[in-house]
Amino acid sequence: MVFKIKNISCIGAGFVGGPTMSVMASKCNDLFFHVVDINDERIDAWNNEDLSRLPIFEPGLKEIIENTRNKNLLFTTNIKAAIESADIIFISVNTPTKTRGIGAGKSSDLKWVEACARQVAEFSKGHTIIVEKSTLPVRTAEVIQKILNSATSDLENAKKSFSVLSNPEFLAEGTAIRDLENPDRVLIGGEDKSAMLLLSQIYENWVPKEKILFTNIWSSELAKLTSNAFLAQRVSSINSISAICEVTGANVREVSRAIGKDSRIGSKFLDSGPGFGGSCFKKDILNLVYLAEYFGLKEVAKFWEEVVNINNWHQKRIAQIVVQKLFGTISSKKIIILGFAFKANTNDTRESAAIRICKDLIYEGAELIIHDPKVSMLQIEKDLQIKQFSSGKNENIDYLNNNIGNWQFSNNLNIFDDAHAVLVLTEWEEYKYIEWDKVAKRMVKPAWIFDARSIVNIDLVKKSGLNLWSLGDGSQQGTKDEI
Ligand code: UDX
Ligand code: ADP
Repeated sequence: MVFKIKNISCIGAGFVGGPTMSVMASKCNDLFFHVVDINDERIDAWNNEDLSRLPIFEPGLKEIIENTRNKNLLFTTNIKAAIESADIIFISVNTPTKTRGIGAGKSSDLKWVEACARQVAEFSKGHTIIVEKSTLPVRTAEVIQKILNSATSDLENAKKSFSVLSNPEFLAEGTAIRDLENPDRVLIGGEDKSAMLLLSQIYENWVPKEKILFTNIWSSELAKLTSNAFLAQRVSSINSISAICEVTGANVREVSRAIGKDSRIGSKFLDSGPGFGGSCFKKDILNLVYLAEYFGLKEVAKFWEEVVNINNWHQKRIAQIVVQKLFGTISSKKIIILGFAFKANTNDTRESAAIRICKDLIYEGAELIIHDPKVSMLQIEKDLQIKQFSSGKNENIDYLNNNIGNWQFSNNLNIFDDAHAVLVLTEWEEYKYIEWDKVAKRMVKPAWIFDARSIVNIDLVKKSGLNLWSLGDGSQQGTKDEI
C-alpha cells in the first residue's frame, strides 16, 4: 500500500511549533495540522478569539492564524488523538541546557524529547514519520529511534513502524514568517529515502526544489548547531571589535560596513549590540562544546566556549560603563531601560542581554523603569527573579542585601521625569523616533543616553544637550559637563 500523508501533528506549541505549523497549514490546504501542547494556558492562548493575545508575537502571524485556525489547523491538548491520527509528527518541544547532573551547564536536557518519544511509541498507529524540529544535540535521533524500537518489539505493538528524520528549523524570531515562507534552505536528514521524499513533497508546495537539501541524519543535526555557532561567533566577533573602537576612536558601524563589503565576509549579522540572546545561540554552542569535550577535542571545545564567554563579558561591560559614566555610583538614580526582549519584533526574553544588565544595575542600587512594547511585567519579574517595586516598601531587601535597587514596569514612554540616564537595549522601531529635545527637559542633568543598539538619532540627542554613549563609537565618548 502506498503511504500517503494526510494528517500532520506537531508536539510543542512554542516559538518554533506554532509559527512553523501555521505557515505549513497556509501553504498546504489539502493537509490537516494538529498542534498539541501539555500547557493548557498556551493552547487556550493560541485559540483566543482576540488575535492580539496569541501566546507569541511575530509579525504576520495573526493574519495566517486567522486564515487557517479551525480550518486545517487545530490547536489542542489532546495529545493521544493527535498522535493516533498522524502520518507525520514534528517534535518541537523545549530542550533547555541541563542545570544539574552529567553535562550540567552544557548539554541539553532531553527529558521533554524523551517524554514525547514515549507518547508517540504508545499512541501511534501503523507507520509514522517522526521529524526532529527542535534544536537537538547530535545523535538525538538515535535516542528517539531506540525508544520507538522498544515499542515495536512489544508484540501488541508489532503493527507500528517508524522513520526518524531530522529537519531543523532555521527561522529567526521577529522574522519567523518571512523565514518560513522563503527559507534559504530546507534541510532533511535521514536514512529512509522514501520518508525523506514525502517530507520534501510537503515543502515543495512552496519551496523551490533546489533549496531542499538531503543529508545523513548526523550531518543535519550538526549543521543546525554549526549554523547557530557561526552566527553567534560573528556577533561576538563584532562586539569584541566594538570595545576596541571605543578606546581607539574608531566607529564599529563604519568598520562593519567596510568589512561587510568584502563578498567573502558579507554584510549580514555584523550589528554590534548588547550581546546575543535568544533560546538557541548559547544553548547550541554549549552543545557543541559538550560534544567536543565528550570526544576529547579539548581545543575545539575551548574555541567555541570562548564565543559564549566573551558574550557574557560584553553584557557585564555595558552595565559597568553605565555606572562609570554616572560618576561611579547609580545608587537611587532613576535609569530608563528601553527594551527587554532579546531582539526587536518578538516578545521572547530568553537569554536576553537585558536580564543580566538590569540585574547588575539593580545590584548597584539603581531604580529602573523598564519599558518594552511586547514583553509583559510578569515575564520581566520571572526573568529578573526580583519583584516589581511597589510603593513604600522595598520587597527586594531579602533578595540581595544592602544597597539594593528596584524596578518598575511601564507600558508607555511617559517615563523620563527625573531620570539620570536612558539605556537602549532592544532595537524597537518606536525608540528611533523619540523626541530627545523634549525628553532632555525632564531629565536630571548631566543626563546620559546609552545606546547599545545604535538606533537613536545622534544629531537630535546632541542638539538636546544630552550626553551620548553609543556602543562601539569611539567618537562619541566625551561628556558635556557644562550641561
Ligand atoms: C537564531 C538563528 O538566527 C536562527 O537561524 C535559528 O533557527 C535560531 O537562532 P534567533 O535567536 O531567533 O535566531 O534570532 P537572531 O536574529 O539570530 O538573533 C540572535 C541574537 O543575536 C539577538 O540577541 C540579536 O539581537 C543578536 N544579533 C544578531 C546582534 O547582536 N547583531 C546582529 O548583527 C545579529
Ligand atoms: P521553542 O522555542 O523550541 O519552540 P518553547 O519553550 O517555546 O520552545 O516551546 C516548547 C513547547 O513544548 C512548550 O509550550 C511546552 O509546553 C511543550 N512541551 C514540552 N514537552 C511536551 C510534551 N511531552 N507534550 C506536549 N508538549 C510539550
